[in-house]
Amino acid sequence: MTSETMKAVICERYGSPDVLEIRTVPRPVPAKGEVRVKVCASTVNRTDTATLRAHPFFARAMTGLIRPKMQILGMDFAGEIDMLGDGVTTFAIGDRVFGMSPDMFGAHAEYLCLPANGAIAKIPENLPFHQAVVGEGAWYANGTTQVLSEGQRCLIYGASGAIGTAAVQLAKAQGAYVVTVVGTRHMDLAAALGADRVVNYETQDFTALGETFDLVFDAVGKTSFFECRPLLAKDGIFSATDLGPGWSNIILGSFYGATGSKRVRVPFPEGAPGFIQKLANLMSQGKFQGVFDRRYPMDKITDAFRYVEKGQKTGIVVVDVC
Ligand SMILES: NC(=O)c1ccc[n+]([C@@H]2O[C@H](COP(=O)([O-])OP(=O)(O)OC[C@H]3O[C@@H](n4cnc5c(N)ncnc54)[C@H](OP(=O)(O)O)[C@@H]3O)[C@@H](O)[C@H]2O)c1
Repeated sequence: MTSETMKAVICERYGSPDVLEIRTVPRPVPAKGEVRVKVCASTVNRTDTATLRAHPFFARAMTGLIRPKMQILGMDFAGEIDMLGDGVTTFAIGDRVFGMSPDMFGAHAEYLCLPANGAIAKIPENLPFHQAVVGEGAWYANGTTQVLSEGQRCLIYGASGAIGTAAVQLAKAQGAYVVTVVGTRHMDLAAALGADRVVNYETQDFTALGETFDLVFDAVGKTSFFECRPLLAKDGIFSATDLGPGWSNIILGSFYGATGSKRVRVPFPEGAPGFIQKLANLMSQGKFQGVFDRRYPMDKITDAFRYVEKGQKTGIVVVDVC
């Protein structure tokens, strides 16, 4: 730490967004092999809201039993490198970068240090900072969509959140045939993202489409394996980002895992550094772009948390830090 300071959103205890406070704290200094990013944009995502509430309870084993171990939340960042730790040669001061800090969080602050070989990559040319904070939802989506191969058939239930909008694009990039299930207000969005067929859950029974799928992905935690079972092809997989009703996804995932079958999966995303580089490449090739909802200034971040907790956002909610 130095005598220099920065503004940061501090989360000293678990609870509602009201526990968050903006304070002036020491500015971090990069250790050997680290870079420091002057953060320009971050997000409030479902990982942040779940961590703030310590939900589910067992997550405290990772995030801190009594109090949060990481007192500055924020996983996604985009900004400029402003200081290099010893030995860093892969980045230069002034590089425009984006990425994720999935283990340490810390992006709800004006400065963030992270390993130069971590989940950080250069922002594709001309992309503004607030459109480069695309990591979290896409990373969760990739944990599921990466199993798809060319020509496979996939149904994405809830293709309008951060995970769902990313999942459609990642599945298409893998060469899959993609059917999405969304509400009326997101029909056009799903088609624009490249879905081959868009189903409206408000007017259609999505379990009776006359098609079966190699992969059914519940990207918003609003359906279940049992509801989707008729949609699964032989050897088809049901994958979800949530625990499921009565923790059914976890229980079924463990059961099928133990039997050697992958029929129900709740994949924990892995390989963040490689994934951020993959995302940078897809963005440069025009095969991936973030879908953005509202932007909030950092001093209104509690409003951003409250909005995200409603479960009604479209894609990503941005926090403007600089
Ligand atoms: N525990 C964690 O750390 C963690 C981390 C990341 C994600 N997750 C889980 O992953 C899920 C997705 O997160 P996210 O950030 O992508 O988005 P999100 O905020 O949960 O998704 C919101 C979207 O879901 C749509 N939606 C709401 N009800 C629906 C329904 N019955 N059927 C289909 N769509 C519906 C909403 O639009 P409409 O209402 O207009 O349809 C909205 O666009 C969440 O359930 C979250 O809990 C958990």
